[in-house]
Amino acid sequence: MEMDICYGGIPSRIPNNSMGIRGYDFVEFYVGSAKHVAYWHAKALGLDITAYCGPETGVRDRTSYLLTSPYGMRIVITSALKPDTYDINSFITKHGDGVKRWAVEVVDVTDAFMKALKGGAVPLIKPHKIEDKEGYVEEAAIRLYDSTEIVFINHDNYRGIFKPGFGKPNQNIPFSRHETGLKVIDHIVGNVHINEMDYWAEYINKALDFETFIYYGPGDISTKYSALLSKVVRSKDGKIKNPINEPYEAERLSQIDEYIQQYNGTGIQHIALSTRDIIATVGALRDNGVEFLDAPPHAYYENLSKRDFGLTQNLNDLEKLGILCDVEGTGYLLQIFTKPFSDRPTFFYEIIQRCNGAQGFGQGNFQALFESIERDQDKRGNLTIIENPINVM
Ligand code: FE2
Repeated sequence: MEMDICYGGIPSRIPNNSMGIRGYDFVEFYVGSAKHVAYWHAKALGLDITAYCGPETGVRDRTSYLLTSPYGMRIVITSALKPDTYDINSFITKHGDGVKRWAVEVVDVTDAFMKALKGGAVPLIKPHKIEDKEGYVEEAAIRLYDSTEIVFINHDNYRGIFKPGFGKPNQNIPFSRHETGLKVIDHIVGNVHINEMDYWAEYINKALDFETFIYYGPGDISTKYSALLSKVVRSKDGKIKNPINEPYEAERLSQIDEYIQQYNGTGIQHIALSTRDIIATVGALRDNGVEFLDAPPHAYYENLSKRDFGLTQNLNDLEKLGILCDVEGTGYLLQIFTKPFSDRPTFFYEIIQRCNGAQGFGQGNFQALFESIERDQDKRGNLTIIENPINVM
């Protein structure tokens, strides 16, 4: 029987970690045009627009759309409405469209924030209440990477939609959308500078009482031209997982460096969304026009067919859709990666199905992803020779 392993997204009410983290709560993007990016998430990814924030709900300087899955995934897409909406406009000017913050739901915001500070976290927003007639939400935030935040949030005393400032969507005629079966956030990945991976892994481990789960060292993920190092830190109950990549010295510009150049800093590279049926999900996403990275060659699937690891999916379907498969212990991982969701080669989504208890990240899939991104990097003319890897910025 397939175990339904899900980390985060569906918060358990009684956490089993010292920070009182129930699970992922939401991810918020800052983008140039929230209306269009929200439409893409609804029509292409098959999410529901369930709440809206803007002038109609009394908020005059920004507009946000809340997109959700029936399983509790929350994605917020936000744009500035005024030239002096500084926090959003400065982010967009520097980075383009990207993830501004990811939030975890905690039992006690002040307690989690104070513990994070004791662990060395940089405070950005002190614990505070946001109120309206439906009650209040508590929030606080600490720094992550160059311009990103980790938010602690609690909605226990709020009866309204999401949080104060949000109301029902403006569009009162529901448009057709195709169900894709996306469930919850599985993990969130960051890209950082050379020599920053250890710093940020230790920062998160100390601030959130996480642990290092996996380390890919020199030579583990590389091609003839470029390489990376990666550490996965996670909460001790495994609900929140946060891989961190840094470029590693190589002949040409690492794809992590390409991200840092194009994003103009360090930040979130991708978010993995889980599904219980990746063949149906990826089929629906492709029908909806979602672009994926190139599929691996036929030999990749021939090799898989020779291995006996209890694959229950049809291998021809996996090949037809370009889905990667990696065996891990007694389980296996099915993964596929979209092309960047915006025009800059920065943020992208991953679709993941964990089968038979697989908990890791699949070194083989990671390597295949790395090679696939590198092919696209080459098409963009960014797989350039570097004279001095230290001067990549
Ligand atoms: Fe991933």
